Amino acid sequence: EVFSNSETASKLVAEEIASLIKQKQEKSETCVLGLATGSSPIKVYEELVNMHRKGELSFRNVITFNLDEYLPMEPEQQQSYHYFMNQHLFDHVDINPENIHIPDGTIPVEDIDQYCIDYEIKIKEAGGLDFQLLGIGRTGHIGFNEPGSHPNSGTRMINLNHVTRVDAASDFNGLENVPKKAVTMGISTIMKAKRVILLAWGHKKASVVKNTIEGSITSNIPASFLQNHSNATIILDSEAASEL
Ligand code: GLP
Repeated sequence: EVFSNSETASKLVAEEIASLIKQKQEKSETCVLGLATGSSPIKVYEELVNMHRKGELSFRNVITFNLDEYLPMEPEQQQSYHYFMNQHLFDHVDINPENIHIPDGTIPVEDIDQYCIDYEIKIKEAGGLDFQLLGIGRTGHIGFNEPGSHPNSGTRMINLNHVTRVDAASDFNGLENVPKKAVTMGISTIMKAKRVILLAWGHKKASVVKNTIEGSITSNIPASFLQNHSNATIILDSEAASEL
């Protein structure tokens, strides 16, 4: 779906998320959200916070699982996805802190495999992801599933692609400070979500958006696996859609 600007599009996405949360509330059920970081979802979070401030939306039945985190990364560090999520959403809404899950960037390497297995188990025990919000990297990554990611992949440690590290360099005051690894939910983790929305804004995403939507399904462009998802929508502004 193509929108003339990201503000209008983000409002609609926030409304879909809010209505899912409310539907679940009415049935006294939990709502399990898979959440993303990066600049793309910021306005969606802003809208959700606004709805909460106006008293229209409560997060008391919401359980969240974030897609990814750099490795190594302290949660207090400004570049961490923990910091990002607190700043843009969690500090401003009534979510129970126990219901927030973000991959831990401080896990010692020898413990990571078990940590990732446990992250998958927690998602399953929560009832699976009702909704997954995604951005897309210029490499075609979703979460941090870089080119080469297998469709059966679960949560795991990965090596960041050079392009991804270059794109993150300004946040880290130089490429040399960007972590080389990350923990990310896998392609299969994302594909199991009942509903998926991917957001892409701006001309820099136009080429990867074209490959994702019109190209073949390939691990060279991990986002292209979403072509096989039965309930995924890609939401674009006119610049991101300009090569379609
Ligand atoms: C990072 C995140 C991704 C995100 C991507 C795009 O690499 N791990 O989840 O989709 O950045 O970021 P942006 O939305 O800022 O373009």
